[in-house]
Amino acid sequence: MPLLEELQALQVRAKALLAKVQTAGDLEVWRIRFLGAKGALKAAMRGLSEVPADQKPQAGKALNDLKHSLQEAYDARAGALAGGVIVHVGTLHLGIGLHPPSVVIPNPTVDVTLPGRRPKLGHLHVITQTINEICDIFGRMGFEVVYGREVEDEWHNFTALNMPAWHPARDPLDNFYIDDDTFLRPQTSTVQIRVMESRQPPVRIIAPGRVYRPDTVDATHYFMFHQVEGLYVDEGVTMADLKTCVDQFCKAYFGGDVATRFRPHFFPFTEPSAEVDVSCPACQGAKGGCSICKGSGWMELAGSGMVHPNVLESVGYDSKKYTGFAFGFGIDRMVMRKHRIPDIRLLFENDARFLRQF
Ligand code: DAH
Repeated sequence: MPLLEELQALQVRAKALLAKVQTAGDLEVWRIRFLGAKGALKAAMRGLSEVPADQKPQAGKALNDLKHSLQEAYDARAGALAGGVIVHVGTLHLGIGLHPPSVVIPNPTVDVTLPGRRPKLGHLHVITQTINEICDIFGRMGFEVVYGREVEDEWHNFTALNMPAWHPARDPLDNFYIDDDTFLRPQTSTVQIRVMESRQPPVRIIAPGRVYRPDTVDATHYFMFHQVEGLYVDEGVTMADLKTCVDQFCKAYFGGDVATRFRPHFFPFTEPSAEVDVSCPACQGAKGGCSICKGSGWMELAGSGMVHPNVLESVGYDSKKYTGFAFGFGIDRMVMRKHRIPDIRLLFENDARFLRQF
């Protein structure tokens, strides 16, 4: 019998038998008989070598069609027996004659009414959110947001800020020096100088950003943290302006019922200088304080003061004509206080389970 007729007969026979298959065992017997390595299909393929050369393409195609037809019939039967859906999981070209592998998923299989899986959306880090909020509040008071640089020099960080060469803060061990005159800024006060050098009063800016100090890391210290600097220089700026501005900011950020207080302090670049405390947002100073404010009822938030005349003169401003105030808030500290975060390291470990909460 010529090959083509033989193949047709094989197909009819195979499908007739397949229709009678009722169990997985019978199905396997059928598969071995027709599709197996020593099965009828393979035998027919071997017959191809005896076909005259001019009929080979036609015969080859017929064989191929038969192979697919039998495999499809097999898959359908297998699916029907398992009561499930057949999913072709792609074609594996591992060798000649391999058919796409099939996976039979038992019932119940695909629930097409299920909602899809939502991709997880990220959001801004709580520090970034806070910086945005701070910029919003000061923006409403007429402050412009500017950014300095994180790699600074001694002039902008020390000399122009009224810290002469002998000042202990210049100790190489207290800063991340890169070379003799270059280091990572340990404070955002450098931006005061950069801004005043580049423009004339009135100046009213805030400058948020990262600062770096070689501190030993613990629950309240990290080698990198965030500050926001503020500077307002104009004719007739007074300490009353400073107090009002800082008090208004604290009320806007922490809530209208917080109180602020100014404690005398020393900073080289301000005179007079003050540290700013805010009443503890957790206990409002009630009953002698709580664990967050360590029983004092107050929390230290910022350094501030009236810009030292030497600083104004160092950038070429006339200190007889202009006065100004400056402040520097610790942003990480504000975030920790507001959200009751006990350990600064949590902010930078990037554990999404923690960050997702904010
Ligand atoms: N730069 C100071 C620090 O890092 C904070 C500071 C204090 C900034 C007083 C100021 C200021 O602008 O007037 O500790």
